[in-house]
Amino acid sequence: KKSMPLYGKKVMVTAGPTYEAIDPVRFIGNHSSGKMGFAIADELAKLGAEVTLIAGPTAQKAAQRLKRIDVVSAREMFDACTSVFPESDITVMCAAVADYRPKQVATQKIKKRDSGLVLELEKTTDILASLGVAKKTHQILVGFALETNDEENYAKGKLEKKNLDLVVLNSLNDKGAGFKSDTNKITIFNKALERTVFDMKSKTEVAKDICTAILKIAK
Ligand code: C5P
Repeated sequence: KKSMPLYGKKVMVTAGPTYEAIDPVRFIGNHSSGKMGFAIADELAKLGAEVTLIAGPTAQKAAQRLKRIDVVSAREMFDACTSVFPESDITVMCAAVADYRPKQVATQKIKKRDSGLVLELEKTTDILASLGVAKKTHQILVGFALETNDEENYAKGKLEKKNLDLVVLNSLNDKGAGFKSDTNKITIFNKALERTVFDMKSKTEVAKDICTAILKIAK
């Protein structure tokens, strides 16, 4: 039991980017590799949790013991998250969800023209924020923040605005942190806005630190 502190707990983790279609062959995406989210899902499963991993397009392989739901767009990720969340005791939102998507998706490949091209974008739903609204008192919700400036203030703002229990800040200012890298450097803020700063580590080790922080607030 000591090695399985999350036995009987249901956990949901999101990972990877989302792709927002422009036409049948093109999309708007981002550089998220999914590594951090997959590592977190794996660690939580090792601690005994029943893990559902909701993954955007990524080359990562998930361990057999995880229940994996593959999605492509922000809208599909929203739908998957909204259906899994009510049963989830602990939710970790690690995915780099697109903030904007093309307002119209062309049904045919857009032809090259002599002139430029303007794409109109509309906002996607902030999944984490909407789960924060739906959250019940027994549920733990963890979000990520990736900022390039004034990062600690933005991270703390996110914690409060999105009703989170923990926010994990990754800074792009640290070499070897973020995106495709195998290492990451994080700072975790809890609800009391207490800050824990971690060293640069492998994403597996970072995932363990995040799980330790979750275990401290889970009962
Ligand atoms: O506000 P910002 O997008 O920087 O917040 C990042 C956090 O919100 C991450 O945990 C990310 O997974 C989540 N998010 C989301 N849905 C969006 C945008 C971000 O769940 N549409």
